Amino acid sequence: MPPIERHVVISGGSRGLGLALAKGLLEDGYHLSTCSRTRTPEIDQLLEAWPDTFSWHACAVEDATQSQQFLTDARARFSKVPFYALINNAGIARDGILATLPVVEIDRLIGVNLLGALYLARAAARLFVNATAGGRILNISSIVGLRGYNGLAAYSATKAGMDGMTRALARELGRKQITVNSIAPGYLTTEMSSTLGDAQRKQIINRTPLGRLGDPADVLPLVQFLLSDGARFITGQTLVVDGGISS
Ligand SMILES: NC(=O)c1ccc[n+]([C@@H]2O[C@H](COP(=O)([O-])OP(=O)(O)OC[C@H]3O[C@@H](n4cnc5c(N)ncnc54)[C@H](OP(=O)(O)O)[C@@H]3O)[C@@H](O)[C@H]2O)c1
Repeated sequence: MPPIERHVVISGGSRGLGLALAKGLLEDGYHLSTCSRTRTPEIDQLLEAWPDTFSWHACAVEDATQSQQFLTDARARFSKVPFYALINNAGIARDGILATLPVVEIDRLIGVNLLGALYLARAAARLFVNATAGGRILNISSIVGLRGYNGLAAYSATKAGMDGMTRALARELGRKQITVNSIAPGYLTTEMSSTLGDAQRKQIINRTPLGRLGDPADVLPLVQFLLSDGARFITGQTLVVDGGISS
């Protein structure tokens, strides 16, 4: 695929869903930048395979200065290519009933999942100020932000917060033809869900009409579509990809 003159920035591309999305979008031809706290062997492989269209940056998204610097450095790397999209994907999960969840864990969840997404969206919105060719912001939230799940009050609050940001930002940026949407996956087979016990996993599968956990490859086609020109009139929405578990 020849390079597309569009620069996409995704947080948390070192493993799991973010890595799968980064690979898929590089294969589609986008210029792509990502960040994580740790540089993984998978990042090194992408740097080797896509030396002209991929960049990685060390960043802890809950730090406003680092988030802004990530976007600044990513833009400097591909300064000749118009900035097109931000995908807020970096996230952490922690379960446990709220009554005993340590306050420091609540702060960490809100810091990474919600403040991190807001800082990056703010930095992206500033890049879009002079945009004339439109653009995209995609927020990876979760079905847990839409429905109640035992033991996930803090995580759920961060994801519902992201969906709220999606709706408000869609209104702020719409006149510039920048769309803002959330994608809410169900349980995916990534490191994040590796702590699920066998019984929990079976219960999730039993409750899922399509009879399995999701895979990052199930989410990629929706991301590709929302980035495409065909999705130009869809904004402010939360789109669910969960095999029907929340139906
Ligand atoms: N897995 C699921 O079942 C599921 C379901 C619904 C929604 N989601 C959402 O999908 C997104 C991706 O999840 P995943 O399952 O792919 O998780 P994952 O496998 O744990 O990967 C998380 C990614 O985010 C990065 N990250 C974590 N903390 C960070 C921080 N403070 N600053 C910058 N990067 C950070 C990680 O790299 P470092 O650790 O090196 O920083 C990694 O690249 C998350 O927002 C998650 O909430 C996941």
